Amino acid sequence: MDKIKFFVNLWPEIRPPMAVFTEKDVPDLAGKVFFVTGGSSGVGLELCRVLYHVGGRVIVGGRSEKDYLNAVENIKAHPGMDLRTCPKGSLEFLYLDLSDLTTIKPAAQELLSKVDRLDVVWYNAGVMVPPVGSKTKQGYELQWGTNVVAHFLLNRLISPLQIKTAQSSPASSVRTIWVSSSAHHLSPDPHGINFADINYERSKERPDQMTIYGQSKAGSVICAYEYARQISDKGIVSLALNPGGLKTNLQRNIGFLARHAMGLLLYPARMGSLTELYAGFAPELTAKKGFLYIIPWGRIGPFNKKVQRGLEQNNTSKKLWGILDEETKKYM
Ligand SMILES: NC(=O)c1ccc[n+]([C@@H]2O[C@H](COP(=O)([O-])OP(=O)(O)OC[C@H]3O[C@@H](n4cnc5c(N)ncnc54)[C@H](OP(=O)(O)O)[C@@H]3O)[C@@H](O)[C@H]2O)c1
Repeated sequence: MDKIKFFVNLWPEIRPPMAVFTEKDVPDLAGKVFFVTGGSSGVGLELCRVLYHVGGRVIVGGRSEKDYLNAVENIKAHPGMDLRTCPKGSLEFLYLDLSDLTTIKPAAQELLSKVDRLDVVWYNAGVMVPPVGSKTKQGYELQWGTNVVAHFLLNRLISPLQIKTAQSSPASSVRTIWVSSSAHHLSPDPHGINFADINYERSKERPDQMTIYGQSKAGSVICAYEYARQISDKGIVSLALNPGGLKTNLQRNIGFLARHAMGLLLYPARMGSLTELYAGFAPELTAKKGFLYIIPWGRIGPFNKKVQRGLEQNNTSKKLWGILDEETKKYM
């Protein structure tokens, strides 16, 4: 999809209607455990703010304890909007660097040693349009390695606890949420993933960084779809979402002028947390419905048609899952 078509077709996601599901609709979270990657900044921080203030035990995954402590100070000082008064929960830091797969198993082990349930997980951390050639420690293209491969490995390691949690919890209350983006519409043809060369190491023509970011976000949609296929009969909801266009640190790698021009279309990060809260708690999102894609500020929406065709007619989810399974098994 070229950039003009992108804006025309996606206008309902770029300028969404008012949120119907807000902080006040989040149920009481006492006794429940939540895990948010990238919870020290942007949308993740706003999500953690709400989870904490309505009583949840919140594990914040990130690579900087200093950023986490700043976030905690901010969260505790500013309860946010539209909240009921109720006892606060707790916040804990979990070190993980998604650009280094060797940090994922220790993080998962620490998480599993701390908690005996895991209600909702948001694979929220992400990186967008880093300098061309940026790679993870294991040599993956940075956006693919961070946004997709590391979250896949994390999910592989912690999903047994979610399955156990689901056995003693109301159906569809245990959820795994893969944060995608409207940019998945910009992913490569024909079905969103350049299977011949996912890391763009051998391709003669390298697409722009936004297309490669788009590929990573198509990867999140595809993982959510395949995981839903595998897990929904256990009562677990797996879905993907576009949080919305938000002013956060995500635009850090975009040039000054482009960032300010883009800023005119962006909303405060809190609005993105409403999309993530809807995905985490809206009662109409059930495991029986299978994979769903959520659009701003909390509605079931359509996702990209070429990605959908790949899933429904070309088995792209089984193919991608198989590749990721194989590539991550040595980090298990
Ligand atoms: N903002 C938007 O308009 C928008 C639109 C669509 C989708 N999204 C998606 O929403 C999610 C949240 O993004 P945001 O807008 O809130 O951006 P953000 O403020 O930059 O937050 C991203 C978070 O991910 C973390 N992260 C990045 N690389 C990491 C790594 N290697 N290991 C651990 N954590 C890492 C960042 O930590 P560091 O500070 O340490 O890097 C940060 O806490 C992302 O998945 C993004 O793709 C955002």
